[in-house]
Amino acid sequence: MAELEGLEFGKSDFVLLDEVTMEQFMENLKLRFEKGRIYTFIGEVVVSVNPYREMDIYGKEVVEAYRGRELYENPPHLFSVADAAYKTMKRRAKDTCIVISGESGAGKTEASKYIMQYIAAITNPSQRAEVESVKNVLLKSNCVLEAFGNAKTNRNNNSSRFGKYMDINFNFNGDPTGGHINNYLLEKSRVVQQQGGERNFHSFYQLLRGGSEEMLQSLFLQRDPSFYIYTREGAGGFFFPQTSSEDRSAHKAVLTALKVIGFRAQEIDSIYMILGAILHLGNLEFATDGESVRVTAPQAVENIAILTSTTAADVSKALLFRTVATGGGEVIDKGHSEQEANYGRDAFSKALYERLFSWIVSRINAVIEVKDYNPVLHGKNTVIGVLDIYGFEIFDNNSFEQFCINYCNEKLHQLFIELILRQEQEEYDREGIPWQHIDYCNNQIIVDLVEQPHRGIISILDEACLGVGKVTDVMCLESMDSKLGQHPHYTSRKLSPTDKSLEFQRHFRIRHYAGDVTYSVEGFLEKNKDPLFQDFKRLMFNSTNPVLSEMWPEGRLDITEVTKRPLTAATLFKNSIVALVDKLACKDPYYVRCIKPNEVKSPMLFDDARCRHQVAYLGLLENVRVRRAGFAYRQPYNRFLQRYKMTCEYTWPNHLMESDREAVEAIVKQHDFHDDVEYGHTKLFVRTPRSLFTLEQERAALIPILVLFLQKVWRGALARMRCRRIRAIYRIMSCFRRYKVKAHFWEVERRLGGVRTMADYGRSVQWPAAPAALAHFHAITQQLYHRWWARQVVKNIPPSDMAEVRAKVAALSALQGERPTWGCGRVWERDYLSHVSDSPQTSAHFVQVSKELKNKDQFSTILFSGFVRKVNRFNKSTDRALFITDKHVYKLEPRKHFRVLKKIPLDNVTGLSVTSGADQMLVLHTSSKDDILVCLQRGELCPNQDRVGEVLGTLSDHFTRSNTGAAVEPGPTQLLSTSCSVTPLWYQCATILPLRSNTCV
Ligand SMILES: Nc1ncnc2c1ncn2[C@@H]1O[C@H](COP(=O)(O)OP(=O)(O)OP(=O)(O)O)[C@@H](O)[C@H]1O
Ligand SMILES: [Mg+2]
Repeated sequence: MAELEGLEFGKSDFVLLDEVTMEQFMENLKLRFEKGRIYTFIGEVVVSVNPYREMDIYGKEVVEAYRGRELYENPPHLFSVADAAYKTMKRRAKDTCIVISGESGAGKTEASKYIMQYIAAITNPSQRAEVESVKNVLLKSNCVLEAFGNAKTNRNNNSSRFGKYMDINFNFNGDPTGGHINNYLLEKSRVVQQQGGERNFHSFYQLLRGGSEEMLQSLFLQRDPSFYIYTREGAGGFFFPQTSSEDRSAHKAVLTALKVIGFRAQEIDSIYMILGAILHLGNLEFATDGESVRVTAPQAVENIAILTSTTAADVSKALLFRTVATGGGEVIDKGHSEQEANYGRDAFSKALYERLFSWIVSRINAVIEVKDYNPVLHGKNTVIGVLDIYGFEIFDNNSFEQFCINYCNEKLHQLFIELILRQEQEEYDREGIPWQHIDYCNNQIIVDLVEQPHRGIISILDEACLGVGKVTDVMCLESMDSKLGQHPHYTSRKLSPTDKSLEFQRHFRIRHYAGDVTYSVEGFLEKNKDPLFQDFKRLMFNSTNPVLSEMWPEGRLDITEVTKRPLTAATLFKNSIVALVDKLACKDPYYVRCIKPNEVKSPMLFDDARCRHQVAYLGLLENVRVRRAGFAYRQPYNRFLQRYKMTCEYTWPNHLMESDREAVEAIVKQHDFHDDVEYGHTKLFVRTPRSLFTLEQERAALIPILVLFLQKVWRGALARMRCRRIRAIYRIMSCFRRYKVKAHFWEVERRLGGVRTMADYGRSVQWPAAPAALAHFHAITQQLYHRWWARQVVKNIPPSDMAEVRAKVAALSALQGERPTWGCGRVWERDYLSHVSDSPQTSAHFVQVSKELKNKDQFSTILFSGFVRKVNRFNKSTDRALFITDKHVYKLEPRKHFRVLKKIPLDNVTGLSVTSGADQMLVLHTSSKDDILVCLQRGELCPNQDRVGEVLGTLSDHFTRSNTGAAVEPGPTQLLSTSCSVTPLWYQCATILPLRSNTCV
């Protein structure tokens, strides 16, 4: 760090001072201020000196230079602390807070704005719209809060007159998701009265100077702030020559900001109507007419009524009367005295403004609050808190507000002491680290003086407020004198009669850590009690403007209702500050300590005495001493190990040493910064951040390798898992398939197991549907079965019937269903001419002829014989007999003793044509083109016989058998497979039955 800035700029960390003395500290601070180096480190604490001039050190490039860097890598800057807080929050998922302290005008608010700008600049790199809008509202809220909560004081032209603690919420990505603003004690007395040379809150001047003509007309206002009592003091003159234009532009900015934040038009109008009403209220005067009091300018009352959406009569009544409930449940109106009316008016104005301010804060909170956050989905929600609260103040006249503000600063200083000085030193003791104790000024005693129950100043004030009878401020002072007389940090004129700077019965003095402050007790009780007549609350609640009504919910209460006494202002403030300190204490704190270089807002002047005073009371020197002797970083051994174990071969992935401490030692030894650490009982203490940085760098370099390694292992594991799952699936599938096959076989067996013994050999049994895998197998099995079945059937046919069966099978396959009746169901006699029943008159004679032909032509089998009718082309028909043997086809003349008319060798027959009709026509085709066309005649055996199928089947079978070899006994396959093609030929429905295998079969 020291190398980053030349030595001519002094030491950029006070820890590097040669000697820790006030002189050297001041010398370094002054040198750096004069050289334009306004920031200096004390370890992680940034000391900031208000430059009172524009500095070119907050731009984009500077943000980039600090983004994600370690503290000591860059010159000291607010951005270093902001980045450290952000990094801690992101890396360790810890809530952090940045406490900005210093006296009024030291630059706290400016610092808080730069810190927020930095956080906004480094977050949301992906520019997600919802995050951008949150950032925008967070940034814009500053402008609104400053307008309504800041004012020009004699110490600071833009003094925060309220305390602000803002929580910014982040998601696991480190992007802001929302926030919450806590506001503390607005100095509302400023609304009605300001010290000489001071102004009321900026908002009034911005409205009067920046508001459009129409706006002012609608609010019945004049542009000149000096016209209104409440703004007269800060209206102009030589104090504020240039502020008119600033107020004008600020007004525009506030209007824009209100719209960006999401205030509705009606709400914005209401805000300015309330401001207008307050200004009109301030100008109200009262006069006493005999007994009663009246408002001197009724027009102003009219205006107030319009602006608050009430009636003039109600406003007037609330200003002049007080409704009181008598004991008997009766309600009466009690008129105010002129003084009471004046008091009521001012109290009303103050309360109106205070409620308006709190309402604005709550509206902003409603917009920025984190919505729909689910820790399971979105990860841990972490917070960075930024505290910018009024600095320590000493005015010429210090009242109740200064008392509260200074008490608040005592509490924050106590927290600083607690965290930075005391706890740190206690931790070294606890961990057994050799340590030279450093003394520091502990302000606990002053905190106790203010807040201790029963004996503290707040308790005494409350007692006085709650007491019956008229208790005055002076009585309260006396009570404090008697109870706190012995306290070393409390005094008054009564207790120190020689101190002429204190006034009797008016002043008391507290020796604060930052200096002595003399408070005027005047008005303390009134401000602590903070009373406001109920009538005003009811008036506002009953306003027809819903925004106003919403601000005054307790106006709903009836006058007769008994309510609990509200807590006093001091107690409320104390409670809120205690809650704030608790909130801060549970976070990792980062500090910005602001110093005001001079009282005249000069960029050149370094007021040595004033700065020395601030350095002393801020405890910066002690801070340097503790820091110098102490350690920048500490971490329990196990957490340290967890974070850095990958940087050492002995500790990665797990160490085999006795304890984590030894493993940590191994890491330290490997990186060679043994001299820079101390080993506590449970923690490792690292003196300089540089050592830690080395580790961090190494870790950052190793992380991608580790990530790759983990990814590799995990991908492998995923692939193995996937593979196992797929294997299991295949196994299940194959088992299931096997089961299905088996189940099919079982079922086939069950159904067909007994087919041998069945009468129909299982012909009627329905086969189970086969699984897809067995489709082919199933077909073959069925075919086998059918063959088996056929064999069983054929086996039982007597040999004498075989010829007929074969012929029928041949006819069946040749006809292919073309001919409906073909004589399948009857006995095929074949030789009808020899059959006595069929041809009773001629059979004996034909038997004789047949024998002669057998002897002569040597045939062995008669294939067919029967009467036929021959039809010639002249349509002349003649009866004939057809005789077919295994050698010849004979055409015989039946009437002439069966004389042979024509004899054709059977081998000459090439085909046979039949029709599909019921006629008995038949054509025998021959190779010699000498075809025989006849019509078969039925004999007497059965007049309806169809003999075409018989001739066809017998011839077809004969030729099939003579082609395959007569010696071979035709099996069922041959019988079944005999087939031929059928082609229409003759007239419409003739069928060709080629008989020769070398031609068509
Ligand atoms: N970093 C800075 N750069 C330029 N000017 C600064 C800076 N810090 C402070 N100032 C100047 O100092 C003035 C007072 O600063 P600021 O309002 O932040 O003080 P404060 O500590 O908040 O005081 P108070 O306690 O009264 O609110 C600013 O208006 C601004 O002009
Ligand atoms: Mg401020």
